[in-house]
Amino acid sequence: MKEVKENLTKKMVNWIYLLDDTALPESQMTPSYPMGVNVLLARVGGVVYAISGMCAHMACPLFTGRLEGYLITCPCHDWRFDIRTGKFLEVPELGLVTYSTKSEDGKLFININ
Ligand code: FES
Repeated sequence: MKEVKENLTKKMVNWIYLLDDTALPESQMTPSYPMGVNVLLARVGGVVYAISGMCAHMACPLFTGRLEGYLITCPCHDWRFDIRTGKFLEVPELGLVTYSTKSEDGKLFININ
């Protein structure tokens, strides 16, 4: 049983290198496409958050939006999302997929599973 759990854990955590940790300054965001997945990266308070790069409304590219604190505003129709949770502020039941990130040896990684 323990062996099965370890195998499941290994399959679920697949860290993919994104960029050097210093390449994303504080309060900045950038698009990224690990394994073809459209992701928006944003650093706030020293932490790098990763959410879907396409708006939940009509899929506009969020990296062209505005980042203010933990909020990103879509450039197309001003929907606002919390980058920590991916939630749409006006209707929290709606939102964006979020991904785990980690920094190790000066490099930034994402888990897209
Ligand atoms: S596409 Fe983002 S608010 Fe409409």
